[in-house]
Amino acid sequence: MKQKHNDFIIELRNVTKSFGNVNAVDGISFGVRPGEVVGLIGDNGAGKSTLIKILSGVHPPDSGQIIVRGREVRNWNAAKSRDAGIETVYQDRALAPQQTITRNIFMGREIKNRFGIIKVNRQYQEANRLMREIGFTSKVFDPDSPVATLSGGERQGVAIARALYFDADLIVLDEPTTALSLVETAKVFGFIENVRARGRSIIFIGHNIYHVYDVADRFVVLDRGKVVMTEDKSNIPAPEVLIKHMQEIAELGHAADASPA
Ligand SMILES: Nc1ncnc2c1ncn2[C@@H]1O[C@H](COP(=O)(O)OP(=O)(O)OP(=O)(O)O)[C@@H](O)[C@H]1O
Ligand SMILES: [Mg+2]
Repeated sequence: MKQKHNDFIIELRNVTKSFGNVNAVDGISFGVRPGEVVGLIGDNGAGKSTLIKILSGVHPPDSGQIIVRGREVRNWNAAKSRDAGIETVYQDRALAPQQTITRNIFMGREIKNRFGIIKVNRQYQEANRLMREIGFTSKVFDPDSPVATLSGGERQGVAIARALYFDADLIVLDEPTTALSLVETAKVFGFIENVRARGRSIIFIGHNIYHVYDVADRFVVLDRGKVVMTEDKSNIPAPEVLIKHMQEIAELGHAADASPA
């Protein structure tokens, strides 16, 4: 790669991960810079989720290096990933719909006083601040509203607010808009914009290339466990061009006229 490695918040170098004889991640080198939205795309089974599970420490890599802000971290795991400022938002799974927005944001990591009592007011105020920070505009909701009353896009917003509260520098979203309508997708994009505007980074995994094109600054295309293309949006004038590259990759195993990874 041309960039200096220490540009990256986190970088994988030549990382592999197999399940039996499936090389889910097959020698991937990949990094994320501060304040960028990386669109991670590729067919079903290309290795996208496996890659981000390596980043979040769910799967230990079989081989390769993980470098955080220029320094290699050995024995990578979920705790080290969190310490590195990486938070992953998995689709609805993370939220408890009957609970309030506040409870959901702080669940498992409550703000407590030294006697172990939850500081309910502090949490309410923090939740309010975070909701405004990511761009919740609806006057209908406050931090005491149950998550069940929120739309799908707004629920993603709560999950993103939760990640922000934990001071994530990199928030990973694995298909956050797959089940959402256009209006709800637009809300999620609004939240992502606000996160980026605050200098945080995002990895956005999606199947809808038009969505990924709208939201990402850079595209990384995986095919059968390998990075087959990485390109700045400035070099891809329209989503149709990206789709054409993807079709070429499906046919040839690489893009015909984009710079290879
Ligand atoms: N825990 C696992 N055990 C066995 N095989 C796995 C496991 N996780 C992933 N795989 C395999 O690794 C390959 C990559 O899967 P992965 O889920 O990373 O793809 P993906 O790009 O996220 O696909 P999708 O777009 O369908 O979500 C697939 O062949 C998959 O079957
Ligand atoms: Mg996946």
